[in-house]
Amino acid sequence: MDKSKRPPIYVVKNKRKNNESSYIPTYLTAKETRFAKAFHQSLTNYEPTPLVTLPALARELGVGQVLVKDESKRFGLNAFKVLGASYAMARFLCEKLGKSTEEMTFEALCSQEMRDRIGEVTFVTATDGNHGRAVAWAAKALRQHAVVYLPKGSAQQRVAAIREAGAQAHVIDGNYDEAVRLSEQMAKERGWQVVQDTAWEGYTTIPTWIMQGYTTMAAEAMEQLSALIDSKQPTHLFLQAGVGSMAAAVLGHFVATSANKNVTTVIIEPHSANCMVLSAEENDGRPHAATGELGTIMAGLACGEPNPLAWEILQEHADFFVSCADYVAANGMRVLAAPTGDDPSIVSGESGAVGVGLLAALMSKQIYHRQREQLGLNENSIVLCFSTEGDTDRDIYRRIIWEGVCREAEDMTR
Ligand SMILES: Cc1ncc(COP(=O)(O)O)c(C=O)c1O
Repeated sequence: MDKSKRPPIYVVKNKRKNNESSYIPTYLTAKETRFAKAFHQSLTNYEPTPLVTLPALARELGVGQVLVKDESKRFGLNAFKVLGASYAMARFLCEKLGKSTEEMTFEALCSQEMRDRIGEVTFVTATDGNHGRAVAWAAKALRQHAVVYLPKGSAQQRVAAIREAGAQAHVIDGNYDEAVRLSEQMAKERGWQVVQDTAWEGYTTIPTWIMQGYTTMAAEAMEQLSALIDSKQPTHLFLQAGVGSMAAAVLGHFVATSANKNVTTVIIEPHSANCMVLSAEENDGRPHAATGELGTIMAGLACGEPNPLAWEILQEHADFFVSCADYVAANGMRVLAAPTGDDPSIVSGESGAVGVGLLAALMSKQIYHRQREQLGLNENSIVLCFSTEGDTDRDIYRRIIWEGVCREAEDMTR
């Protein structure tokens, strides 16, 4: 669609969804999730993040239930990403040892005996987001090393957080793609191991391990949800996407484990980085890139190219792809920060709050009545959202919550 005519919320139905299919790739079977979860459980300080119910918000919006998985509480790291990095790095070390993950706990991997056998490993990644901090934290936990390359202009606070987590962090004089190339080149020259959270031709093993790691979040959510509600599963899954690894891992886990597949899955992106929406519109089965300025407040979702492995799963099982203006996410942050009635408050960052922001917009504004119906949202809906980060950029968080920036009237990203 012509960008200038794009509405603030743009919905594309997935024509490739296969209602009969329960296909998921072998790397996302329930068995693989059990390994990932057991590994995470063996990490010091592991606790499932809370699944928060917001009954007053649900009443106000006219849906049955709103449930939010609060990833700001993940290992004190303020985002879900460490689930992927830690598991992928542990699997890499297991392979080096010639052991399977089933035989390995975190404690064993960090033991002196194993370290003597593995030797020193340096993990390298390129990122301007939460993944860098996750790699840094996991390397330290596994008593190994990490180097993170950040593109020019990366927020000082994020660079400092990576260094605090024990890694070397270098801001380069180039963009994200140049940082990726540099990390690959350094890996080749120095024998380091690249840990990127997306796949490309010839680089798929680590990204599949990262996706397996993310399924721990999905498994926790499904267990918590079945203890909370009679139907034991949501009617709607709202999943935000950057490269799509997180959304595909959660949806893949759901398809692999749920008896009743009757859930409507909505994949959400910022307008400026809407590679999934574009791929769904092209409808040729292939992933398509969003080009040009990827500027959005949703830094974690500012990805131009889908992970091709994730796209395979999303095009088979997702129902809708939605892109939205930045103020939708900012409103979601405000809704979660200043709750209705006795609902608890949730600190949710720009990439974390877009699901709730979308739900609030669709349910509270008459102009969206058609989209609301299209998505089948009504008083019986049980909507599961993932607040994938807390206030990972405190300056932006405060400006949005305290000063009220990024409101509908002033938002230029629509
Ligand atoms: C907070 C947050 N939410 C969601 C995502 C999206 O994950 P993916 O790129 O796997 O789609 C990211 C990615 O970095 C993120 O940092």
